Amino acid sequence: MTIISKNINKAVDILNNEDVVAIPTETVYGLAGNIYSEKAIRKIFEVKQRPLFNPLIVHLHTIKQLEEIVSHVPPKAQMLANAFWPGSLTLVLKKKANIPDVITAGKDTVAVRIPNHPVTLELLKKLSFPLAAPSANPFNRISPTNALHVEYYFKNSIQMVLDGGECQNGLESTIIGFEKNEPILYRLGAIAIEDIENVVGKITVKNKEEKAPNAPGMLAKHYAPKTKTYLVDNLEEFLERHTNKAIGVIVLSENLNAENIKHIEILSRSGDLKEAASKLYSALHRLDGLNLNMIVAQRFPNFGLGKSINDRLERATK
Ligand code: TXA
Ligand code: MG
Repeated sequence: MTIISKNINKAVDILNNEDVVAIPTETVYGLAGNIYSEKAIRKIFEVKQRPLFNPLIVHLHTIKQLEEIVSHVPPKAQMLANAFWPGSLTLVLKKKANIPDVITAGKDTVAVRIPNHPVTLELLKKLSFPLAAPSANPFNRISPTNALHVEYYFKNSIQMVLDGGECQNGLESTIIGFEKNEPILYRLGAIAIEDIENVVGKITVKNKEEKAPNAPGMLAKHYAPKTKTYLVDNLEEFLERHTNKAIGVIVLSENLNAENIKHIEILSRSGDLKEAASKLYSALHRLDGLNLNMIVAQRFPNFGLGKSINDRLERATK
C-alpha cells in the first residue's frame, strides 16, 4: 500500500535506501529516485512501464549543482536558467561522463531542471544526490496533478507519495535543447513559448516526433485518457452529430447545454489560460472516471499556454 504523507524525512529515508518516492512539483507529480542508484532508476522504468529509450529529467535544488551534471552551458541556456529557475523549464545539455546511461538513454545529453515547489526543494536539499523524476503516471497515461492521482495509478507498487497539494501549473515543463548553441523547443509546456522568446529571441520548434529524434519522449500518442477523446473547432456541430452518445465536454470559459452532455468542465470562467492549464489534467482524470462514450474539447486559443493545452489535447486524441 502507498502512503500519502507530508513527512519529508520519511521520503529522505526511502530515497537513501535506493527506493522511489512520488514527489510534488509545480508542474505535475514525478516518480523520483537517486540518479546514481541503478536499483532506483530501474524501478522507475519498471513501475511506469516506460521503455528504456525514453530518458529522464534530473532535478536539482541549486544552479551550482549544474557543474556536477553537465559539461557545457551555452550562453542562451544560462540566460534561460537565470530567467526561469526554479521553475517549469527543462534544459537539455551536454552531460558529464558520470551521469549513468540509463538516465539519458545512452545519449550524450541530459535533461535538467530546478522545480519550483517548496516541499521538493526542501527534500532535494536534504539529499546528497539529485533526483531523476519522470511524471508519475504509467506510460501513455495522463500526468498526475495531485497525490490521489498518483495513488490511483501506483497503489500496489510504490511506498510513498510525498504530498504537496495540487500542482500549481498542471502541465509538464517546457523542454529546450541546443543545436550549435542555439535553443530548440522540444516540448511545449508550462512556460509559454512567447515568454521564452522574450529572453532569447525567436526559437525553432521541433516538437513532433518525426522531426525530433532528439526528443524520444515526444511520441504522438501520449497523455491519453481511456475514453475516446476529440479536439474540435466547432463544438456545437460535433454535439449535433453525436446525439445518441454520453459526452464529457471541456471548454475554456463558456457554459453550454445539450441533451448529450453528461458533464462539462469549464477550465476558467474568466478565460485565463494559465488557470485553464492548471486544471486540464484534473478535468481529464475526472471525465475519464465517468464511463462516458467520448470526451470532446473545444480547441483553445492558439497562443500562450493555449498552445501547450492544444498540444496535450491533440496527443490525447491519438
Ligand atoms: O514537468 C516535468 O517536466 C515533469 C516533472 C516531474 O518534472 N517531468 C516530466 O518527465 O514530464 P517525463 O519523463 O514525463 O518527460 C520527460 C521528457 C521526455 O519527453 C523525454 O524524452 C525528454 O524529457 N528528455 C529527457 N532527457 C532528454 C534528452 N537528453 N534529450 C531529449 N529529450 C529528453
Ligand atoms: Mg511524462
